[in-house]
Amino acid sequence: NGEKVVVSRQIPPQALSVIKQQADVFLWESEEVPIPRDVLLRECREAVGIFATLTERIDEEFLSNAPNLKVISNMAVGVDNIDVAATTRRGIPVGHTPGVLTETTADLTFALLLASARRVVEGADLVRQGNWKTWSPMMMTGQDIFGATIGIIGMGRIGEAVAKRATGFSMRILYHNRTRRPEVEQSLGATYCSLEELLKQSDFVVVLTPSTAETHHLIGKKELHLMKSTAVLINTSRGSNVDEKALYGALQDGVIWGAGLDVFEQEPIGADHPLLSLENVVPLPHIGSASIATRTNMALLAAKNLIAGIQGEKLLHTVNPEVY
Ligand code: GLV
Ligand code: GLV
Repeated sequence: NGEKVVVSRQIPPQALSVIKQQADVFLWESEEVPIPRDVLLRECREAVGIFATLTERIDEEFLSNAPNLKVISNMAVGVDNIDVAATTRRGIPVGHTPGVLTETTADLTFALLLASARRVVEGADLVRQGNWKTWSPMMMTGQDIFGATIGIIGMGRIGEAVAKRATGFSMRILYHNRTRRPEVEQSLGATYCSLEELLKQSDFVVVLTPSTAETHHLIGKKELHLMKSTAVLINTSRGSNVDEKALYGALQDGVIWGAGLDVFEQEPIGADHPLLSLENVVPLPHIGSASIATRTNMALLAAKNLIAGIQGEKLLHTVNPEVY
């Protein structure tokens, strides 16, 4: 049908067929290996649109190689893989997928919180390895969730959905955010406080901020030392929000009690990553939004953004509406 678009990954078939009805598709077919940089640059030279994921770096070099580009559609809510200022200068809208992944990501955040607090993965490993010798009073004892204090850093859609779950566990809810959210204070009983107060008082510190220059290493050595020695850190946002070296030290020295991490500073991490040597870390491979239904909805939304972009219409969700 003429115009070319690049799809950087295998995506759910419904989304791919929506795109194929409107454009000629170059699809990178491997699910194991991300599209190599040279292939990406070559295939995008003629393309009017790209369906990208968070493993594709969209920067000046990429943009100057793709002079015909009318739209970048990221299948993610976060767009830290994209130099948005550079795309805006060129008048190219960047699409993303907020909303559809909120509840699914909040579920995974809570799963990681529960698993970390109650040593679920460690316990399962012990059983699998045949090391379950007897019942004993202090075996695999962890931290209570019910009635504990949760501190949510970044009260966006996902933060709010996590707070909603916390009410079911009778948790006291603290939050820190760039702007106060009176409606969340009202509806969920959340209390706004400074980052320092949140860190001091929370049993569970949950990081849900986007990755920006301001949030780089938002949680570092100083912040970890403000936390309780019984506290658990949960990160389901972006790895760069937490200083991993400082976190490793804090977990090893008992400065904090445990961590549940769905994201890392350099993904993917290998078996030699220092944090994996610690039993009080629950590591996951960036699967916050990974339910079958939600990944399908994200792909469909990203496909709609892509098509709107190539047809010169407004995207359903864009991070740089100033291009219009
Ligand atoms: C995934 O991490 C996303 O930003 O959607
Ligand atoms: C993402 O959807 C957020 O705003 O938290």
